[in-house]
Amino acid sequence: MKIAVAKGDGIGPEIMEAVLNIFKAGKLPLEYQFVDMGKWVFDQGYSNGMTPEAQETIESIGILFKGPMETPKGKGVKSVNVTARKTWNTYANKRVFQTLHGVDTVFSKAGIPIDITVVRENIEDTYGGIEHMLTHDVALSRRFITRPGSLQVIRYAFEMARKKNARRITCGHKANIMKITDGLFLECFYEVAKEYPELKADDVIVDDLCMKLVTKPDLFDVVVLTNLQGDIVSDLCAGLVGGLGFAPSANIGDHICIFEAVHGTAPDIAGKNIANPTALLLSGIAMLRHLGFMEHAAEIENALLYTLEQGIHTGDFGDRNITSKNTTEFAAAIIANFGKKPAQGAKPSLPNMPVTPTVFKLEKNPLIMTKEMEEETIVGVDLFIESMEQPTVVAEKCLKHTLDIFKLVTLSNRGTQVWPKGSVFTNLVNQYNARFESVGDAPLTQTDVIELQRRLAKDFKICSSELLNMWGEKKAYSLAQGQ
Ligand code: NAI
Repeated sequence: MKIAVAKGDGIGPEIMEAVLNIFKAGKLPLEYQFVDMGKWVFDQGYSNGMTPEAQETIESIGILFKGPMETPKGKGVKSVNVTARKTWNTYANKRVFQTLHGVDTVFSKAGIPIDITVVRENIEDTYGGIEHMLTHDVALSRRFITRPGSLQVIRYAFEMARKKNARRITCGHKANIMKITDGLFLECFYEVAKEYPELKADDVIVDDLCMKLVTKPDLFDVVVLTNLQGDIVSDLCAGLVGGLGFAPSANIGDHICIFEAVHGTAPDIAGKNIANPTALLLSGIAMLRHLGFMEHAAEIENALLYTLEQGIHTGDFGDRNITSKNTTEFAAAIIANFGKKPAQGAKPSLPNMPVTPTVFKLEKNPLIMTKEMEEETIVGVDLFIESMEQPTVVAEKCLKHTLDIFKLVTLSNRGTQVWPKGSVFTNLVNQYNARFESVGDAPLTQTDVIELQRRLAKDFKICSSELLNMWGEKKAYSLAQGQ
């Protein structure tokens, strides 16, 4: 079976060599096709950080095993790691955090076992990077949460939880504040939960989740979150089991999957042969299971766990009284322990069932869903306008230009209502959101909205606008705070 391998930058080549040596000793029937991605590819002028040949190889093979890669600073290029995840629609980022005996943490010392799988949405949210300066003082980032995107990652999380006989699946969110975006994600979670009645599904607000994860981590099993919250929560979980050196990551898509460690290129220790290859090895073991090499995965994982249990360690962790191994020696110790089982947490050896990845070209995009069922009407518009003036002055100017069919409902500043009611204690910036709604909730057309904008543009710079839609009886927009 072929897999594409990118060694990466910094410590990437060193830890990749260590892991491939372990795979070689495990007699894995894998053929590696090395591809060119990373910093030096950017430096050669490829703006997405990969050569066209690399892209072609990965797209034809469907599996990429990669080392960490550096994004050149200040060149205006996007991270190749993020580009790869987004280009190939690896919509679910799965990270498994387990107590590793021999890796001391406050929890291992207290005898509290940890086995948490975080599934993070990998494409949407603020990671679209759609950001604008509305005025010189005001930056705006757009956050996309979509129904099909949420359903896709949540369904993956439930399916994975079912396969691993999970006790519980939890949705982390902030739907109490971001009622529409996180509200949609949470709604999708409970929609999918109905298809898995055997799983205990619940939700926890993300700040409370962080507190509970550090006080009672053993209560959690599978946790699914949106992209940014998932990013933060998964690093928190890495801290629970000993840090980034032990955090593997699988980026799962329907056609292409990417396996990599969570950590970066560690430039401070690159080239010294002292990096810890465990996170990349754990990512590789996850890849072997994904490809159906169950027996090989268990043999390698048991050898790793046994090695850690023996107190063998690289310089970044472990007992300071035991001399640390370098990367090559650590890999050699694991190879020497093939066939041995750890006293605690040994993995059962299941038969191999190799599954060759199927890569096929999409004929139509499955994420474009059917139109909404409810009747959709435009009932107003939010106009983001620049002004240095006080709310009453802004309101007067808005009222002067408005059309009969619109009423000015509210002015808000940084999301807080400042007109018709407000507080002198609210601090203002030079950008208001003027909300206009139709008189008597009569349906509006886009032309009405454009005409209103045209009139207001005489007095204001309009930085951005959003339509206010009704879907049947449901408002498809949020209220300003205090409205
Ligand atoms: P980093 O994860 O590379 O390093 C943070 C700290 O952890 C450093 O002190 C480093 O020595 C240590 N460390 C990391 N991995 C280690 C290992 N395997 N063994 C022993 N110690 C280890 O994070 P940093 O410094 O923020 O990023 C460096 C570069 O890596 C940046 O260019 C960044 O963009 C890139 N990066 C790439 C990622 C990827 O390819 N998926 C992920 C994160 C960062």
